[in-house]
Amino acid sequence: MGKAMTFFTLSLLFLISLFYPSLSDTTGSFLFGGCTQQKYSPDSPYQSNIDSLLTSLVNSATYSSYNNFTIIGSTQSDVVYGLYQCRGDLSMPDCATCVARAVTRVGSMCPQTCGGAVQLEGCYVKYDNATFLGVEDKTVILKKCGPSVGYNPDAMNSRDAVLAGLSGSGGSFRVGGSGNIQGMAQCTGDLSFAECQDCISEAFRRLRSDCGTADYGDMFLGKCYARYSTGGAHADSKAHDKSKNEGEKTFAIIVGLLAGVAVLIIFLAFLRRVCGGQGK
Ligand SMILES: *[C@@H]1O[C@H](CO)[C@@H](O)[C@H](O)[C@H]1NC(C)=O
Ligand SMILES: *[C@@H]1O[C@H](CO)[C@@H](O)[C@H](O)[C@H]1NC(C)=O
Repeated sequence: MGKAMTFFTLSLLFLISLFYPSLSDTTGSFLFGGCTQQKYSPDSPYQSNIDSLLTSLVNSATYSSYNNFTIIGSTQSDVVYGLYQCRGDLSMPDCATCVARAVTRVGSMCPQTCGGAVQLEGCYVKYDNATFLGVEDKTVILKKCGPSVGYNPDAMNSRDAVLAGLSGSGGSFRVGGSGNIQGMAQCTGDLSFAECQDCISEAFRRLRSDCGTADYGDMFLGKCYARYSTGGAHADSKAHDKSKNEGEKTFAIIVGLLAGVAVLIIFLAFLRRVCGGQGK
């Protein structure tokens, strides 16, 4: 059943990524990823737990921008924890597409490792056999500073004012701007309000100190990130959905639904064969 499940998961992911071509390329673009050192043995109970965890993440992303799962196997050593977080401004179909891509990516990047994580432009996925859910983590994972615009007190003051404004606003997704400065911050949904606030403050502090006079800055910590950009400095910051053609989107959803139904029928037929086979 483990192999069948993997096959089913992979076909579903493949179909989803095939039939949602409308996801803007920047939303699906890869930012960073990593894998744990430890590996599990193929066809182990741990593998089937990872398969069902990843399937749960992808399914859940069709209706929620954040979720966490804990898959408990027959023994405590097979337990696997996982979460995903979509950027707060993604629509549900885009969130689902993004998480499916992230899961596909982490699967090919981290073959048979106990844990892995991938951050795409629009979403984050992480799983591990050590629990990390609800644990704040301010480790710097990725820091990117754009080219310096030179010493410009006005620009730096507006940047700092935008970041301060985001500090004061609540929620796990924050976006704001002033003049030609855009700012954005996102926590994973497992953090409490206070933890999110603390994580974002740290990301802002590092953006100000490390990126100095850079025209854009990206600061990805373990459980949150903050970014700013000046004017058109940051190509990624333009990755919003407004340009997307609604008709194309509806078409993609319909085709996606049809594909889902087809996979379901194939899977049910397969199940019947397996169960029927056992009955004899
Ligand atoms: C995760 O799995 C690895 C390899 O099986 C093991 O060495 C490690 O102790 C596990 N960690 C936890 C928290 O269970
Ligand atoms: C994980 O998900 C469960 C069920 O949705 C929820 O009750 C719990 O608060 C979540 N835990 C964290 C750390 O987000």
